[in-house]
Amino acid sequence: MTEITLSNGVKMPSVLLGTYRTRGPAAVELSVKSALESGYLGIDTAAVYRNHKDIAGTLAKTLPGLNLSRRDIFLTSKLSPQDHGTEKCKDGILKCLDELETDYLDLFLIHWPGVQKLQLDDPQNKLLRAESWRVLEDFYKSGKLRSIGVSNYTVQHLEHLMEHCTVVPHVNQVELHPHYPQDDLVKFCSTHSIHLQAYSSLGQNGVSGKLLSSKSVLEIASNIDKTPAQVLLKWGVLRGFSVLPKSTNPEHIKLNLNLDFHISDLDMTTLNNLHCTEFEKYAWDPANII
Ligand SMILES: NC(=O)c1ccc[n+]([C@@H]2O[C@H](COP(=O)([O-])OP(=O)(O)OC[C@H]3O[C@@H](n4cnc5c(N)ncnc54)[C@H](OP(=O)(O)O)[C@@H]3O)[C@@H](O)[C@H]2O)c1
Repeated sequence: MTEITLSNGVKMPSVLLGTYRTRGPAAVELSVKSALESGYLGIDTAAVYRNHKDIAGTLAKTLPGLNLSRRDIFLTSKLSPQDHGTEKCKDGILKCLDELETDYLDLFLIHWPGVQKLQLDDPQNKLLRAESWRVLEDFYKSGKLRSIGVSNYTVQHLEHLMEHCTVVPHVNQVELHPHYPQDDLVKFCSTHSIHLQAYSSLGQNGVSGKLLSSKSVLEIASNIDKTPAQVLLKWGVLRGFSVLPKSTNPEHIKLNLNLDFHISDLDMTTLNNLHCTEFEKYAWDPANII
């Protein structure tokens, strides 16, 4: 399992299990248990995924049998967009810790730069997310959050954050894949030592989706005898991102962690340029939030 070292020295697995839309005790247990048994040591969740308690339950049940403890697992969660602002953010973090039955998180992110129910151009978005960041900084300094970051922040949101933060975000988790490579954001984050964590690496929609069925991806996968999903995940890891494949299929879960293979420079160039002909965004778009 390869690891990323964040700017504060904290180590994080480069592949973590995604859990968006993995809901209900049976689905969560199947996914998380399969992942742990396959060797995953990181899980990405969020308050809005509403699966904290089921993840905690599965960890409690599964870890001892694998000779693992909470300390071996890198656990990420995120602030709900309805919990921006000083008091709500404090309560939101405490609720995440409580639901996940842990006294610390390895990474905690502001999920979204906007505040739920506010218009995209409402100046309160800027003020309330700045308040939330100060709360994350306080929890970080107290040791309850080992690292802190943001999600879905554009260059403009990060520039604003840099004006007032005392801790530069360790991570920005965003949509990143060959159909939506966000080259300007990648450059900005690299300059400021903000680790980029790629989500929706498989295009969200499984084999019927445009990314997993892209002709170029299929050709590269077939030539090196790997699955299209493995090629897309390896692309992310080779670009220096961590990746968060979501699956409830034990076979997919196992394959998605098996990234110990090579993609040639030529194939990487093809993937890096894919957006020129097949540009596509799959998830929510924060671009218009001020
Ligand atoms: N911060 C944010 O705003 C944000 C937004 C979106 C996602 N995320 C995080 O990123 C994670 C991943 O993104 P995502 O959930 O959008 O989707 P994704 O990982 O891009 O795609 C998941 C889809 O791919 C399928 N799949 C997984 N492995 C496969 C394989 N080896 N072969 C074929 N199909 C495969 C899954 O189906 P099966 O279950 O059948 O395998 C599912 O339909 C999320 O779960 C979440 O943790 C964060």
